[in-house]
Amino acid sequence: MSKYHIAVLPGDGIGNDVMDAAKIVLDTINLDAEYINGDIGWEFWKKEGNPLPDRTVDLLNKTDCALFGAITSKPNEDAQKELIPELRNKGIVYSSAIVGLRQKLNLHTNLRPCKAYPGNPLNYRDDIDLVVFRENTEGLYAGVEFKSPNNVVMDALMTHKKMKKFENVDPSDMAISCRIFTRKACQNIVRQAFEYAKEHDRKTVTLVEKPNVIRETSGLMVQEARKIAKEFPNITLWETNVDAMCMWLVKNPQDYDVLVSSNMFGDIISDLAAQIVGGLGFAASGNIGDNYAVFEPTHGSAPKYAGQYKVNPIAMIRSVKLMLDWLGQKKQGENLDNAIAQVIKEGKIKTYDMGGNNTSLEVAESIAKKYEEL
Ligand code: NAI
Ligand code: MG
Repeated sequence: MSKYHIAVLPGDGIGNDVMDAAKIVLDTINLDAEYINGDIGWEFWKKEGNPLPDRTVDLLNKTDCALFGAITSKPNEDAQKELIPELRNKGIVYSSAIVGLRQKLNLHTNLRPCKAYPGNPLNYRDDIDLVVFRENTEGLYAGVEFKSPNNVVMDALMTHKKMKKFENVDPSDMAISCRIFTRKACQNIVRQAFEYAKEHDRKTVTLVEKPNVIRETSGLMVQEARKIAKEFPNITLWETNVDAMCMWLVKNPQDYDVLVSSNMFGDIISDLAAQIVGGLGFAASGNIGDNYAVFEPTHGSAPKYAGQYKVNPIAMIRSVKLMLDWLGQKKQGENLDNAIAQVIKEGKIKTYDMGGNNTSLEVAESIAKKYEEL
């Protein structure tokens, strides 16, 4: 029996292209693993009314971790129109499979390393090497939302004095999204950021929130971060407001080591951080829980490039590297990273986004070849 069982979920569009590229690399790494394909994405929404079928959740529960490509998501109105006729008007509501997967498996931590590979023509600067820890299941993305809130909700809200301003608004003209933080999740995400900093000899952890305005939720996170920071005397806690952080990330990104934030702010700053080291073709991420993890490029299914093997597979291949690290295969992870770095530095084989015209598969093959030579 193989040591590892790994679920492979290509998903939609270029998710398939980059997963094919990742497989070339996985074949070369020759991990003692069995790879098991699973269904996810738009096709399954259309046919089955569920983009994350139960059999896929079962598969995940039976494996050690998963590699995920990308899926297509559309607003509910469009989603309804694309359902097969038998499933229409049955009250089936579309919700994102990836968000569902994070919630179902309690993948509470989103890890997004943003490192500039020297020689990448898309780098903003060559000395950026930061890691974003984003809380992955709560906050504004927990999905506790109300459209035309009913009386029970309105009455409860009216107990807050700041609601006075909305007293005369008709609830049918209102939408509300709740930002819910728990102490446990705040502690968990901050602790992981500090532990990562300690393990990787990083000097600072920057908490990115907005406690001067969003006093309660951001305030809770700051309070917990300050407590945890005391346990790590060699690491400095910096506190920065999310708006200022966007500016600093453009001005002095090389100054930052580890960033930690809640779900939505973390989502936003990690996209910004990804862009300064090459953009979507480079941005890898891990959705990590206590016993399970899903690794994925942060890009979507880019329908216009689907099946053309044109897009950059490096984000997906870097996700494989994160998986190797998480499985404890550090040497293989390090070698894969070196192989990626060398291919980028040589600059001979590259996809369109880097100014080349090689295919996704050619990039993967050249990384695999370098890996073998190491
Ligand atoms: P997208 O990330 O799919 O693509 C936007 C553009 O970025 C592409 O048209 C392409 O120019 C570029 N791009 C993306 N990946 C690239 C790569 N590997 N190499 C080079 N260039 C790359 O975002 P978009 O167009 O907003 O969304 C398309 C679909 O993907 C939507 O249905 C959306 O809901 C979904 N999506 C899914 C995500 C996921 O599965 N985690 C994340 C983001 C979007
Ligand atoms: Mg995003």
